[in-house]
Amino acid sequence: MTVPTVELASGLTVSAQGYGAMSVAPVYGPADPAEALATLHHAVDIGVTFLDTANVYGSGLSEQVVGKLLADRRDEVQLATKFGLVGNPANGNRGIDGRPDHVRESIDASLQRLGVDVVDLYYLHRVDPDVPIEETVGAMAELVRAGKVRHLGLSEATGDELRRAHAVHPIAAIQSEWSIVSRDVERNVVPTAAELGIGFVPFSPVSRGLLTDAFDPAHIGDGDLRRRFPRFDADALPANLDVRGAVRAVADETGATVAQVALAWLGVKARAFGLPSVPIPGTRFAARVDENAGALDVTLTGGQVQRLDALADRVVGARASDPLWVSLGRE
Ligand SMILES: NC(=O)c1ccc[n+]([C@@H]2O[C@H](COP(=O)([O-])OP(=O)(O)OC[C@H]3O[C@@H](n4cnc5c(N)ncnc54)[C@H](OP(=O)(O)O)[C@@H]3O)[C@@H](O)[C@H]2O)c1
Repeated sequence: MTVPTVELASGLTVSAQGYGAMSVAPVYGPADPAEALATLHHAVDIGVTFLDTANVYGSGLSEQVVGKLLADRRDEVQLATKFGLVGNPANGNRGIDGRPDHVRESIDASLQRLGVDVVDLYYLHRVDPDVPIEETVGAMAELVRAGKVRHLGLSEATGDELRRAHAVHPIAAIQSEWSIVSRDVERNVVPTAAELGIGFVPFSPVSRGLLTDAFDPAHIGDGDLRRRFPRFDADALPANLDVRGAVRAVADETGATVAQVALAWLGVKARAFGLPSVPIPGTRFAARVDENAGALDVTLTGGQVQRLDALADRVVGARASDPLWVSLGRE
């Protein structure tokens, strides 16, 4: 297949589907760095060249693995990474640091782990409640002027935070959770991004595996990040597996997989809101990179989209353990 490209924001053209490299680290089950590197190579081979990582994924491990790919293939890739989370988000012992000094030290550490001179898109992973966003973004803008970063992004910012940041320096992309089962961003964040000409990068587009054929709660081990999310609690799962079943019914009609329907639905919604959007599903397996990219060829009928739209109301359990950690709690 050929993966087309999309202009996510002025001057930032990326593959129409990206690859999320969080689970290159053992976040959703064990991950072998050599296999992860092979999967990354496969993604780039088929044209999934917009790679997403963060300094915090596996405490630098994800950036290091991505760096191994970049050693040979930097020019083929649009590289995004993030900073701003401190502590260990995987075990809940986490914080946010958006101070200008932290901005400066974080980019240098990321560039070193990635083995590159410049990052194409640099995101603030979470807005620091103790630092005005203008200060953080002002320091990020200095990185653009210094040639270390080409474009700026925010993650889980509210519509208002996005607007304030954009007034300091153009924001190219907002990366937040958006899927059939996580739709709160449609109220404020997506319309604001559309108005300001900011691209949207939906993270967890297949809801951390829930919206896939392979999802089995029995595979969620003790250290799995999903244990922290209410919608994966034992009492929430029966309803949420029913939601997956309803997506599967659409997938069966369409000759697609559950993950492909979830990703195709995002494409329909973004077009309706009138903004460019590039989801970044993550998987440890090359065959699933192919499957997910296949979503770009899936067409949903208006009736199917309406049925999928209705599912969010049936989801049990919030998308985050702390609503303030995401835009939803601060809107
Ligand atoms: N900005 C933020 O705060 C934030 C937060 C979360 C994630 N992210 C970014 O978004 C990316 C994607 O999000 P995510 O990894 O949380 O969630 P996701 O992409 O919705 O789901 C990933 C999970 O789904 C499984 N999966 C993916 N495609 C599959 C398929 N076709 N069939 C079966 N299983 C499939 C993967 O398992 P297998 O490995 O077993 O295939 C993995 O457990 C991350 O890698 C990261 O870069 C950003």
